[in-house]
Amino acid sequence: MKQVAIVYWSGTGNTQAMAEAVAEGARAAGASVTVTAVAKASREQVLGADAAALGCPSMGVEVLEESEMEPFVQALEGAGLQGKPLALFGSYDWGDGQWLRDWQERMAGTGARLVADGLAVNNTPDETGLAQCKELGAKLAAAAE
Ligand SMILES: Cc1cc2nc3c(=O)[nH]c(=O)nc-3n(C[C@H](O)[C@H](O)[C@H](O)COP(=O)(O)O)c2cc1C
Repeated sequence: MKQVAIVYWSGTGNTQAMAEAVAEGARAAGASVTVTAVAKASREQVLGADAAALGCPSMGVEVLEESEMEPFVQALEGAGLQGKPLALFGSYDWGDGQWLRDWQERMAGTGARLVADGLAVNNTPDETGLAQCKELGAKLAAAAE
């Protein structure tokens, strides 16, 4: 069974709800999935998986959360993500999704294979947002094959 690792940061639960829906979609598509808050995650979890998803809301001024997620992402950037199927997602409020576009460009620069455009959901994911998350999970599971 293909392994999918999902690592996220979430302050108020919105990105966590997205992470769980991405996991549900990947599991329904036949993958074995781990969902881990970044504070408890290791970069080996991501590097050792067949495919990975990273989730973080827009924080600061259109940046990643700076104390846990940003260092984790920086560590991954130098760690050999070439060819790794990867998906990015996160919740936002008043912005226009710039943090996710910037993040996507960064991760594309590592040689990771982005399986879809980053998925941004406004605040708490509604039914449509959750369905988009599940679809992203299914794409990730397919890319892990
Ligand atoms: C300190 C802080 C900074 C934020 N900065 C932005 C921002 O630059 N752009 C934006 O669209 N939303 C911003 N937000 C809103 C969050 O992205 C939004 O509340 C999101 O749903 C939080 O997701 P979470 O529940 O996973 O923590 C900010 C929120 C906080 C607390």
